[in-house]
Amino acid sequence: MALPNKPLGELKAVKDPEVEEREVDVLIVGGGMAACGTAFEVKKWLGDDQSVLLVDKAAMERSGAVAQGLSAINTYIGDNKKEDYVRMVRNDLMGLVREDLIYDLGCHVDDSVHLFEEWGLPVWKKADDGKNLDGKKGTKAGTLKSGATPVRTGKWQIMINGESYKRIVSEAAKLAIGDENILERVFIVELLLDANKENTIAGAVGFSVRENKVFIIKCKTMMVACGGAVNIYQPRSVGEGKGRAWYPVWNAGSTYTMCMRVGAELTMMENRFTPARFKDGYGPVGAWFLLFKAKTLNGLGEAFAGGDAAKAELERFAPYGTAAITPTCLRNHLMLFEMKEGRGPIMMDTVTALADLGKTMNKKELKHLEAEAWEDFLDMTCGQANLWCAQDCEPEKKNSEVMPTEPYLLGSHSGCCGLWTSGPDLDWVPDAYKIKAPNGKVYKLMTTVNGLFTAGDGTGGSGHKFSSGSHAEGRMVAKQMVRYSKDFADFTPTFKQSKEELVDLVYKPVRVFLENCDYTTAIDINPNYIKPNGMMYRLMKATHEYGAGTATFYQTSNKSLEIIMNLLQVMREDCEKMAAGDLHELMRAWEIIHRIWTVEAHLRHIQFRKETRYPGFYYQSDHPGQDDENWFCFVNSKYDPAAAKWDIFKKDYIKIISD
Ligand code: FAD
Ligand code: ADX
Repeated sequence: MALPNKPLGELKAVKDPEVEEREVDVLIVGGGMAACGTAFEVKKWLGDDQSVLLVDKAAMERSGAVAQGLSAINTYIGDNKKEDYVRMVRNDLMGLVREDLIYDLGCHVDDSVHLFEEWGLPVWKKADDGKNLDGKKGTKAGTLKSGATPVRTGKWQIMINGESYKRIVSEAAKLAIGDENILERVFIVELLLDANKENTIAGAVGFSVRENKVFIIKCKTMMVACGGAVNIYQPRSVGEGKGRAWYPVWNAGSTYTMCMRVGAELTMMENRFTPARFKDGYGPVGAWFLLFKAKTLNGLGEAFAGGDAAKAELERFAPYGTAAITPTCLRNHLMLFEMKEGRGPIMMDTVTALADLGKTMNKKELKHLEAEAWEDFLDMTCGQANLWCAQDCEPEKKNSEVMPTEPYLLGSHSGCCGLWTSGPDLDWVPDAYKIKAPNGKVYKLMTTVNGLFTAGDGTGGSGHKFSSGSHAEGRMVAKQMVRYSKDFADFTPTFKQSKEELVDLVYKPVRVFLENCDYTTAIDINPNYIKPNGMMYRLMKATHEYGAGTATFYQTSNKSLEIIMNLLQVMREDCEKMAAGDLHELMRAWEIIHRIWTVEAHLRHIQFRKETRYPGFYYQSDHPGQDDENWFCFVNSKYDPAAAKWDIFKKDYIKIISD
């Protein structure tokens, strides 16, 4: 259960926190879309004598990427073919994806959408005369499950009134497992392997961000779904705007770091998402492109994306660039191309789009259309609506600038980095995609660590799941975890570390602070420690300048990568001297540790892949262009926790669905 919001100020950290130990069959780490899916599903399959616990570092009602709500569900298969869904994802991600996982998700995702609607999420519907019915009108038009037609924006996306989306989904999750089986505001910092069984998950350790308490949790099986990685690069929002980001600030790479640190194999960590967003407010562009049919203009007022120069540029990246829908990275590439040629900035032509749509509308309908334009942001990124107000921007009268943002790492949106997981145990799935547990059985979505599962942003190689797909994947994981926990019912998780060692690990930044804070009069400046805020600036400066951040128009090179690898190494050493005076700082300390590891994995993968697979997301200037002959494969990596060594290697891509 969530502890209440804190009173003024942060709670000072103490040297010796209270310790609470738990033991459960199934542990869910994270409280976002995927974790809510798992929580909703898991009790149905658990035995009466089995237990479950969900741990979220924030409050589930508003945690994760759906915190502010959303205005669309981006994955709804409906009347489309699942094979086409695979083709769309494959094309958007430049050919290299796990088609087994994507096809499988396509078979299940709609069921989650039907549940959302059943739980009260308003989904827009098409009326017989072709008009859009939103809000109550849409609800009255019947449910998707009963055959009502959704308002499609693109082929895969449907519109919702989604301000309360996360509240609706988390309520169902909470009701399903019960408040007593949920710990909110508890940050998991490290996963723990079993002392006796090799490569087997046995639990996790974390701390409360509201009271001085460490949690040590044993489990038979676990899912880690802590989202992607945000604030790993210097954001475009600086000064008074700092803190705004497009993806959610909670997600600090915990999924990737915690799993890799127990030896789980990562895949496609080089794949980042550099989204084009409304400048400074980070408002998403999808509804503007798809629903309002807006075009982007360059600084000369030209609709450059349809022009000859753009076409020629896209042909260089055929067959992806010449496909009916230009891949997300190449859409960025075209924007960057214009900007580098001196034809920036790029503007979203909201004025023409709304005027064109308004041609067939009466006054009332026109007002409603304008309201929808605002609601798109009010439902999902309310800061963008605030910015419009602050800038006296009425979108029907004034165009807005769009800009590629700083990079993010994620596996559920238009990116596909994450963990290498098992495909389903079906005859059409190649053996190379199946991971066998010690009993010889295959558990779908299990990582290469026995008993450790992931979903949503955690699953590598299968982007474009979005909110609905992450939930559906979480539900699939629930069943697999229950199966696993029943198959290994006699497993007694045992830790190598003592209780004291675990507390020492989690509270180390607090101890460093308390031992040294009296040494100077300025609490943040001390020769014996560094505060997490300082470390954050160091990381951001390094990635910004050397790791293909916005400073270099997303370019890096062999030499830059060599330099940043050294910087990251030193940062990791200096993290031993990180100090936290209160619980908020302790959270910040662990977040930055997670971010540094995640960034290292990302850049090691870029360093290994000697081509530029995703122009527009990043450029390796020593290896421009794509080299299918040598690099049409996954790049996977594994960190060996015992030897403290990285292993990076190629893994075959296997085509399952024809072109
Ligand atoms: P999240 O939902 O982000 O959940 C991560 C969870 O992990 C959170 O509860 C967080 O508190 C918790 N956590 C993190 N670290 C720890 C830790 N160390 N210990 C414990 N807990 C931790 N999708 C759509 O379908 N349609 C859209 O229109 C759409 N628009 C979007 C707009 C924005 C602005 C954003 C940010 C996302 C949008 N998405 C959209 C994408 C969608 O929200 C994500 O794909 C989805 O939420 C990913 O689910 P997840 O469970 O992997 O991560
Ligand atoms: S959001 O999740 O933050 O809202 P975004 O606005 O980028 O993301 O995309 C929403 C959906 O629209 C995604 O399915 C994305 O692939 C799609 N999309 C965005 N822009 C375009 C475009 N120009 N052409 C085709 N699809 C697009």
